Amino acid sequence: MSPPQDDKREAILLTQDTVTNYVTQHAADINVFPPGATLTATAIQGGNVNFAFCVRSSCGKTVFVKQAPEYVAVFGPDGFPLTSTRIEKEVSILNEWKSILGDEAGKFLPKLYYFDCQNKVFVMEFLEGFILLDHHLVTNPDRTTDVLIASQLGEFMARTHLATHSSKISSERAAFLTAEYENRALRDIQLEFVFTKAYKEVSTQTSRGLNVDDQFLAEIEALKSRYNGESGAGDMCLCHGDLHPGSVLITTGSDAQVRVIDPEFTVYGPPGLDVGSLLSGYILAAVHQSHASTDKEVKAETVAAIVQGVAAAWETYKKTMVSGGISDELIREIEVETVGFAVAEVCRTSLGHAGMRLWLQFDDAEVKEAAVQSALSIVQKCMTARHTDGVQVLFDCLGAL
Ligand SMILES: Nc1ncnc2c1ncn2[C@@H]1O[C@H](COP(=O)(O)OP(=O)(O)OP(=O)(O)O)[C@@H](O)[C@H]1O
Ligand SMILES: [Mg+2]
Repeated sequence: MSPPQDDKREAILLTQDTVTNYVTQHAADINVFPPGATLTATAIQGGNVNFAFCVRSSCGKTVFVKQAPEYVAVFGPDGFPLTSTRIEKEVSILNEWKSILGDEAGKFLPKLYYFDCQNKVFVMEFLEGFILLDHHLVTNPDRTTDVLIASQLGEFMARTHLATHSSKISSERAAFLTAEYENRALRDIQLEFVFTKAYKEVSTQTSRGLNVDDQFLAEIEALKSRYNGESGAGDMCLCHGDLHPGSVLITTGSDAQVRVIDPEFTVYGPPGLDVGSLLSGYILAAVHQSHASTDKEVKAETVAAIVQGVAAAWETYKKTMVSGGISDELIREIEVETVGFAVAEVCRTSLGHAGMRLWLQFDDAEVKEAAVQSALSIVQKCMTARHTDGVQVLFDCLGAL
């Protein structure tokens, strides 16, 4: 009998106890630790879909290890099956971005040290001292950090979108990217949980005053089919696909840095998807801050920091796209769509359909309800007015918080 083919062997599932052995066995490929280093591991809490660990040597060097099982990690092997090939897409887009960004890739992305396709594991730079952007926006926003971070994210999105935009590349390359990043299983999850479920279950009671009428549902339907690649073929690019502030690690202060993580939902899709996902987090954070403090000055300052972040992200994105040759007409289309994707995500989160998010969580039920109402009123205003007023309607709403 012939031995099993490598790629048919079942993957070894890593745990906090076995991951150090795994890293030791692959130390030469990873090339971070000195030979014979003593390693310890900690499981990283916070992610739901995959297994993640920090492995540290006694000399203080660290790596981040991520493994995709054939299911959603948090639900266990009998919960929600999901193809482990998602991690191949994550590695693939990291490499694509690396070649787009060249020498500056390290400014935006953690370094990838090693990928083991057989076991669906990658090992990358552990971002010591970084915190998640969503946490920062909820706990401690400040103007210096938020303008710097948002500008860098605007630049990152624009540079990666530009290099892959369907108006800037050959039709063969666009067809390749469309197929390569179809990411059907993960896209189907978003189609169901982001663009369908919340609206199927909405009723006059659950909509909390939001008028989910036919016109509103038609807007959601249009965003959904655009996300699924059914319209707008001339305006597509390689997207992160889930670029909310929980997919961004940062440092704070006058030399604030950003690193984009977790692009497993990557798709060749509408540029406004990424910009809108990011802005949805800023909108929710601004609403959150406007209800988090009774001190007027604190409130004004934290909201202003976030609103300046929104402006910096959009302005930098737009400027970089325009200087890269994207037409005014396309920019306008992306602007309108950005607001659409942003408020659709705000809507689903406010209605309680986004799982664990930090936003709008207050112990006081009245404060929480007021925050939800305030978020939903932004959704209501922006969803239709974006077609005439673009991003300005969003700025007006945020300015009124
Ligand atoms: N390179 C890194 N260095 C340090 N910490 C990291 C790094 N990458 C991710 N993390 C941390 O580990 C957590 C889980 O990582 P990641 O988001 O990639 O996993 P996931 O299982 O795909 O998560 P999700 O359920 O959100 O999709 C992140 O929220 C972040 O806190
Ligand atoms: Mg993930």
